[in-house]
Amino acid sequence: MRARGPWILSLVLALSGAAEAADYLGPESCKGCHLAAYEAFNQSKHARAMDSLSDAQKKDARCLSCHGPDQAAQGVSHVTCETCHGGGKYYSPAYVMKDAELARLVGLVDPSEKSCRTCHDASSPSLKPFDFVESLKAIDHWSAERTGKKGARAEAPQPEPAKKK
Ligand code: HEC
Ligand code: HEC
Ligand code: HEC
Ligand code: HEC
Repeated sequence: MRARGPWILSLVLALSGAAEAADYLGPESCKGCHLAAYEAFNQSKHARAMDSLSDAQKKDARCLSCHGPDQAAQGVSHVTCETCHGGGKYYSPAYVMKDAELARLVGLVDPSEKSCRTCHDASSPSLKPFDFVESLKAIDHWSAERTGKKGARAEAPQPEPAKKK
């Protein structure tokens, strides 16, 4: 395994006070590297969840808790990348993103069925009970990256490898 410098310690220390800090960067910040994911997300109802609310409801914490949970503390509207994947301030630099373990250590979250159900519960106005497998298909923004579709994910520029003679 690659050795990690002491900077990791300062990152972790910085994080211990991060719960209150504005560590969300907004979905535009992910777009440059995750273009296909961003475009799929941008078509989804999550990207417009606050548009279902009236102006008065947009200020009502009881509605925002699901339609804009990061509005008050982070200034990010709707249900976005970071609502599900965690605030990106510390994990979105390229060198962190490439290290799956480190990215999770500094805030990247793997969204689970349980995390969906914090909003998709009995109190939401759905006609059908929440079906995790079906709902996942409806928000698919990962298949393009996983199947390596061209341009789906832009890599940060890499130094040219030294040519062997
Ligand atoms: C500088 C480019 C860059 C930015 C900005 C970026 N990512 Fe990434 N991300 C990557 C790369 C590259 C990978 C793939 C790492 C690998 O597979 O080696 C990745 C991987 C991921 C993964 C999968 C991690 C895993 O190990 O399964 C998720 C989820 C993710 N990014 C979410 C986000 C979100 C959400 C944002 C915005 C807050 C974001 N990324 C911003 C480059 C970036
Ligand atoms: C517990 C989470 C939760 C809370 C709290 C909540 N909603 Fe929702 N709301 C949802 C979910 C989830 C959906 C999508 C349901 C579906 O189609 O599966 C939804 C859908 C809606 C829709 C329908 C949107 C459409 O396109 O059909 C409206 C309107 C709405 N909510 C308004 C409100 C208002 C107003 C409040 C506050 C009084 C509120 N919601 C509070 C979770 C919530
Ligand atoms: C409603 C929650 C939700 C939102 C919003 C969301 N994601 Fe995801 N994302 C998921 C889930 C769940 C998965 C994993 C699906 C699976 O494993 O089947 C995932 C997977 C991914 C992956 C692939 C990870 C891998 O292991 O290959 C990337 C990259 C990613 N998301 C980036 C983003 C970006 C960028 C945004 C915003 C533009 C975003 N996501 C918005 C829930 C969300
Ligand atoms: C922070 C709250 C929240 C979380 C977490 C969340 N959602 Fe949602 N979701 C909503 C709201 C609110 C809506 C309705 C948006 C609207 O139309 O106003 C919605 C809408 C949807 C819809 C569209 C329903 C329709 O009628 O078309 C799908 C599919 C969905 N969510 C799947 C998921 C999945 C899968 C997860 C977990 C990976 C998840 N959501 C996590 C709040 C949430």
